[in-house]
Amino acid sequence: MTNAPLPLIAGNWKMNGLHNESMALVHELAELHMGLGPKPVDVVLCPPFTLLGEIAAYLSATKLLVGAQDCSPLENGAHTGDISAAMLRNTGCACSIVGHSERRRDHGESNGLVKAKATSLLANKLTAIICIGETEEERDGGKTLDVVTEQLAGSLPAGAASSNVVIAYEPVWAIGTGRTPTSDEIAEVHGRIRELLYEQFDYDGYAMRIVYGGSVTPENAGEILRVKNVNGALVGGASLKAETFWPIVTAAPIPASAVAHP
Ligand code: 13P
Repeated sequence: MTNAPLPLIAGNWKMNGLHNESMALVHELAELHMGLGPKPVDVVLCPPFTLLGEIAAYLSATKLLVGAQDCSPLENGAHTGDISAAMLRNTGCACSIVGHSERRRDHGESNGLVKAKATSLLANKLTAIICIGETEEERDGGKTLDVVTEQLAGSLPAGAASSNVVIAYEPVWAIGTGRTPTSDEIAEVHGRIRELLYEQFDYDGYAMRIVYGGSVTPENAGEILRVKNVNGALVGGASLKAETFWPIVTAAPIPASAVAHP
């Protein structure tokens, strides 16, 4: 018998959010979070780099967590425009997304690069939220399980554990499209990821969180978050407004034996 992981609901703001509207949203979410009481669910906001420091400082007295959307695999030096994991930690981040399909697509990121980024996050005591997921063509070609298996194997850093890595399954064709896989399709992929994590990490593989991302809304969150081996959600568009993000947070079912992560 193992303890089930605590659900994680993360908002990925992507390249959205100017200062004033974002701080108003953060203020609203902080108030809602206070009203949540002791409900054990981790909530992470991932704003753009430009707002990380201010939002992390604003939320430092709360239990809301702040994460980045990407980080450099390198520690420091002559890498114009890049942001290191040490810098993220310095701003008050708890974690960072890496390997999002939009970065794999727009910046040609390989599994090896994603692994190097995750390695740097772990070395700086930050949690890596590692994204994997198939394209529509790959799903239509029956390759979904092979693709996520290869991405997972290639992206997981040495030293990965349930305390420092979250896997986000995000089918590329479901991102921003309003289309989602069926519950059975989500269960199939999350089940395979769980098997692979168990093979690699033994019982800690049961405690590692696997979150689903791709067109999660207040309307479908209750069903998706109850699928076996779904331990939370990575939310894009619906995370930009409190009235669509917060119902997703409160839809997260709390496992009877939930364990808090450090
Ligand atoms: P949407 O929720 O807008 O589909 O985006 C999902 C996503 O990419 C989260 O990282």
